[in-house]
Amino acid sequence: MARPSELRKRTRSIVEDVIQSSPSKRLRRCRLASVSFNDENQDPDYDIDENDIDNDSEGEEVLKEPSPRKFKRSQSQTSLKSNPVTPSAPRHRDVLGSYPSTPRHAVMSAGKLFKRLTPQSPLTPTTIQTVYHQARQLFARGAEPGQLVGREAEREQLTTFLDRVSTSSPGGCMYISGPPGTGKSAMITNIAKTYSEQEGVRSAYVNCMSIKSSKDLYQTLLTALGEDGSDLSEAEAISSLQKMFFSKAKSSATYLVTLDEIDHILTLDLESLYRLFEWSLAKSSKLLLLGIANALDLTDRFLPRLKSKNLKPELLPFLPYTAAQVKNIIITRLKSLMPEGQEGFVPFIHPAAIELCSRKVSSQTGDLRRAFEICRRALDLVEAETRSKHEEEARQKFLQLTPTKKPLGENINGNSAGGSTRSVFQITTASLKALTAETAPRASIGHLNKVTAAAFSNGTTQRLKALNLQQKAALCSLVAYENHIRTMAKGASAPHTPSKSQTMAPTIKILFDKYCKLCLRDSVLHPLSSSEFREVVGSLETLGLVNAVEGKTGSFIMPQTPSKRGRKVAAASGDEKRIASCVGDKEMESIADGIGADILRTILSGEALD
Ligand SMILES: Nc1ncnc2c1ncn2[C@@H]1O[C@H](COP(=O)(O)OP(=O)(O)O)[C@@H](O)[C@H]1O
Ligand SMILES: [Mg+2]
Repeated sequence: MARPSELRKRTRSIVEDVIQSSPSKRLRRCRLASVSFNDENQDPDYDIDENDIDNDSEGEEVLKEPSPRKFKRSQSQTSLKSNPVTPSAPRHRDVLGSYPSTPRHAVMSAGKLFKRLTPQSPLTPTTIQTVYHQARQLFARGAEPGQLVGREAEREQLTTFLDRVSTSSPGGCMYISGPPGTGKSAMITNIAKTYSEQEGVRSAYVNCMSIKSSKDLYQTLLTALGEDGSDLSEAEAISSLQKMFFSKAKSSATYLVTLDEIDHILTLDLESLYRLFEWSLAKSSKLLLLGIANALDLTDRFLPRLKSKNLKPELLPFLPYTAAQVKNIIITRLKSLMPEGQEGFVPFIHPAAIELCSRKVSSQTGDLRRAFEICRRALDLVEAETRSKHEEEARQKFLQLTPTKKPLGENINGNSAGGSTRSVFQITTASLKALTAETAPRASIGHLNKVTAAAFSNGTTQRLKALNLQQKAALCSLVAYENHIRTMAKGASAPHTPSKSQTMAPTIKILFDKYCKLCLRDSVLHPLSSSEFREVVGSLETLGLVNAVEGKTGSFIMPQTPSKRGRKVAAASGDEKRIASCVGDKEMESIADGIGADILRTILSGEALD
C-alpha cells in the first residue's frame, strides 16, 4: 500500500486542500462532490445507503477509494444530469427535494468523511473509465430504457386504446395506475411516442409534479402543445384549449395528452382535472387523455367522483413486478452490452446475484428503481475490487519486469517512487482498459449481499448506528412525538378509539413541525428545511426504520405480505403520508451513543412537546 507521500501531485493537493479547509468547508465540498457524483444523485436513499456500505465494510479496501474520483466524475457527468433522456418520473420523495441529498447539517459525519478522504490506495487509477461504466449507465436514473421487457398485456390494451387517434371520433381517456417503479411512465411514453409521430397528431406530456395551480396546469398544457399560454388568464387558457380540442375544422389535429403523476394535482383544485377528463369524453372531442397515477388510493378517491359525473375512463392497472420480471429486465439490459452473437452470456453481474436482487426487491415493493440502484452499487463494488486487483498485479509485474530500471528512474526523476508510480499506473491503466464485457469480473452474490445488507438487514441497532445526526434527530423526533401522544392518550378516558390510533401516526408535515420545535428548544440543532427533512424521512423509510402507515386506521402497511404489496405501499403521498417508527424502545436507547448524544437525548425526551 502506498504512503501518502507517494501520492501523485493532483491527488495530494485535493486531499490536502480538503483536510486543511475548515470543517464546515470540508463538509460542504465533500457534499458537493458526492451530490454531483452522477445523475442518480437525486435519490435520497443514495447517500444513506452509501454510508451504510461504508460502515458495513469497515476495513475493506474496496469502498475506500480516494475521493478524487468523485471530483473527477462530478465534472464529466454533470452534463448527463441536466439532460435526462426519458421524461423523469421519480418517486415523490426523490423529486420533492431538489436539494443535496445529504442533509446540510450532518455535521457529525465529519469523522467518517475524513476517514474516507484518506487515500488507501492512491495509485489506483480511479480516474480511468473502466468497462463497468457502461454497465452502470444502464441502470442510471433517466437512462434510456431501450426495448421494454414484458408487460405485453398492458402494451396491447394501450395500443388498442390509442388506435383511435386515427378514427373520426378520437376522444377518450384512460386512467393508468400502479405503485412507483412499475414502468408506467416508461411504457406510456414509449407507446405514445409512436402515435405522436403520426400525421395530424399533436401530443403533450405533462408531469404534474411541478404543477402549482389549475391555471398552471392549463398554461403548461398549452405550452406543451406548442401554443404560447404563459400570459393568459385561467379563463383564457381554458377557452384556448377548448377551442383546440373541439375544433370543427376537418383538418384539425388530434391531441394526445399524457398527464403523469396526477397524484400531485389532487391536492389542488380538482376541477381542472375533471374538466380535462370531461373534455376527452365529450362528443366530437379531439382530446385523447392518458392519466397516470402512482397512488392506488387515489383511484378510490378520484374515480368515484369521476363516475358520479358519469365520466368513466378506461382503466389500466400496473401491478408490481414479480421477481421473474425484474430479473428478466435486468438480464436483458446487461446482455445489450454483449457483442452480437454472444447474447447468451450475462455480463457484469452473475445471474445468481441478479436472481437474489430481484427476489429481494419484489418481496419489498417491486419497485424496479430499487433493483437498479442495487445493481449500480454492486457494479461499483466489483469495479473497485477489480481496480485494486489490477493495481496489485501491475505492481508485481513492474517489480518482476524492471528490477534494473529502478535506479535509473531515480536518476531521472530524483524520486524513484514517482517513477514507479507512473509505470504501475500505466500498466494498471492498460490492463483495466483491456477488460471487456466478456472478461470483466462479475458481481457475485457476495457483492449483492453486501449491498443489500444495509437496507434489508434486520440488524436495527446496526442500521441506527450508521445514521447521520439529522437522520437520528428525525427519528428521535418521531419517537418523542409518539411517546407524547401515547402519554396524552393514557390520560384521556377512551384510549382505544380508532381516532386515537390515527392521530398516533403523524403526517410528514406534522412531524416536521414537531421536529422543528424539538430542535429549536434550547437551540439544540439547526433544523433542516422541510424538503430536506422529507428526504431524511424518506431515507429512514428505505432503511426500514420508519414505515408508512395507512391514513385511516393508522395501521402498518406491510410490504412483505404479497397480497398487500403494492396495493398500499404508495397509498398516500407527499405531506399527507403518515409515518410511524418501527424501532423498539430498547434499540432506541442505543441511538444516542456517540457524537451528538446530548442533542439526541434532549430531542428524544420530547420536553418541548409538552
Ligand atoms: N418493462 C420494462 N423494461 C425495461 N425497463 C423498464 C420496464 N419497466 C420499467 N422500466 C424501467 O424502470 C424504471 C422505472 O420505470 P417508470 O416507468 O419510471 O416507473 P413508474 O412510472 O411506474 O414509476 C425506468 O428506468 C424504466 O426505464
Ligand atoms: Mg412514473
